[in-house]
Amino acid sequence: MMLLAMTGNAHKHENAGSGHFTKRPFSLFHSLCLLLIALAFSGQVLADCECGYQSDSPDGEYQDVFTDLIETNFARMPDISSNTDWQRQEFNVTKAKARGEYGEMFYVKDDVEYVDKNGNRASDGLQLIVRQDPIDGMVPVAEVDTARLDLSYGTFRASMKLTDIPGTCAAFFWYFNDTQEIDMEFLSKDFDHSKNTYPVNLVLQSRAAAAHGYDASQTDNFIKANLPFDPTADFHEYRIDYNPSEILFYADRELLGKMNGSNAPSPNSHGHLILSHWSNGNPKWSGGPPKEDAALVIRYVKAYFNSTEPKRTQDWSGRCKNAKAETSVCKIPVVTRENQTAKDYFFSDYADKAKNQTVYEPTSGARTFEAASGEPAYLGARFEVLAPIEIKERDLQHRE
Ligand SMILES: *[C@@H]1O[C@H](CO)[C@@H](O)[C@H](O)[C@H]1NC(C)=O
Ligand SMILES: *[C@@H]1O[C@H](CO)[C@@H](O)[C@H](O)[C@H]1NC(C)=O
Ligand SMILES: *[C@@H]1O[C@H](CO)[C@@H](O)[C@H](O)[C@H]1NC(C)=O
Ligand SMILES: *[C@@H]1O[C@H](CO)[C@@H](O)[C@H](O)[C@H]1NC(C)=O
Ligand SMILES: *[C@@H]1O[C@H](CO)[C@@H](O)[C@H](O)[C@H]1NC(C)=O
Ligand SMILES: *[C@@H]1O[C@H](CO)[C@@H](O)[C@H](O)[C@H]1NC(C)=O
Repeated sequence: MMLLAMTGNAHKHENAGSGHFTKRPFSLFHSLCLLLIALAFSGQVLADCECGYQSDSPDGEYQDVFTDLIETNFARMPDISSNTDWQRQEFNVTKAKARGEYGEMFYVKDDVEYVDKNGNRASDGLQLIVRQDPIDGMVPVAEVDTARLDLSYGTFRASMKLTDIPGTCAAFFWYFNDTQEIDMEFLSKDFDHSKNTYPVNLVLQSRAAAAHGYDASQTDNFIKANLPFDPTADFHEYRIDYNPSEILFYADRELLGKMNGSNAPSPNSHGHLILSHWSNGNPKWSGGPPKEDAALVIRYVKAYFNSTEPKRTQDWSGRCKNAKAETSVCKIPVVTRENQTAKDYFFSDYADKAKNQTVYEPTSGARTFEAASGEPAYLGARFEVLAPIEIKERDLQHRE
């Protein structure tokens, strides 16, 4: 688009200049030079989306603009171990800490992540597998987290296919701490094919939830919604929109529920995204362990957000010279049930649409921006907080 606009401008300059310069042999060259200089001084570069990525709101209007993105097409990624945007989690949780019948062993295993149980490469995405057989009293489970710990307001989208083997909890969530956490949690034991009901738990952990012993179901910040489809049959896009006024949850762009922003996390809380698949045998929540190895398959994650790092806002101000320019703000295409075209669309596939973003490039491994380091160790993902139990502490062993 920008390129087209520029060509158009070049013609205009050429025409405008023709009266004066037609006799000069280098007139075209000359005017192009002038154009380039003019562009340089006007701060325009050959890029789109330099002022951010814009998300649609429930009424279909495009509203919130976010400065940063993380896009990962797991279906196309040969090996997650080298991906610098995601960290596989490896830590053990004892039975006592897990508050279930079993502990949990978050493990990293190259042979399961892209390979199905028959040993075939599953080309459709990253598999997070909950194993049927506990080891040393722990259920082997799996989790990946974003490496970046600077996610504030944003729209977070994950395409996932859930297991229909009862006894696991699949979770997609934004996490800062136990009172600032936004979750979508799917319990496979609650899926009922005979009744065609597929619930999802939408949870905002907040101070109000803490006051109720971290049981968000006792507050306004818990919604049990029914998915309008069988989530085990195919991939669907699950989406959390976290903005200053509201928190919205969607599946394939159908609104599942919303929560008041007055209980939302602070925009200064530097969160990250987590995808987790676990089981600890607690009959009140995950149930399980599953009777067979159960896979949650993740096809992609697309996250558009503002950063809590002042440097990122500065970079954005430097890039974004004219927020009104036609291509400076890019609309994030919508995936609906009827129209799935946008599932294959990644801004980061286009060099000029993700300028100075941090996306991992499989070929070079390069990132243009390193996530801030030296954050306090992330407190492990213990999130049975919903189960009516007295757990309040997250596991601290994780990431040493
Ligand atoms: C995100 O940050 C940009 C730059 O500071 C700002 O213009 C925009 O309004 C912010 N978006 C939201 C939803 O707060
Ligand atoms: C977790 O426990 C297993 C089995 O006891 C052990 O082999 C593994 O080293 C432990 N992992 C960590 C990260 O401590
Ligand atoms: C989470 O962080 C907020 C802001 O720093 C703090 O007020 C709150 O007490 C924290 N919650 C927990 C459980 O540590
Ligand atoms: C959110 O809650 C606050 C305080 O209770 C209230 O003033 C506000 O109107 C609510 N906003 C929405 C969108 O419901
Ligand atoms: C790109 O981002 C990095 C890291 O935030 C920053 O140091 C650099 O100045 C940015 N470059 C531009 C052109 O904005
Ligand atoms: C389907 O979605 C794509 C991407 O958002 C869009 O370009 C296209 O116009 C849509 N098709 C229909 C029939 O709405």
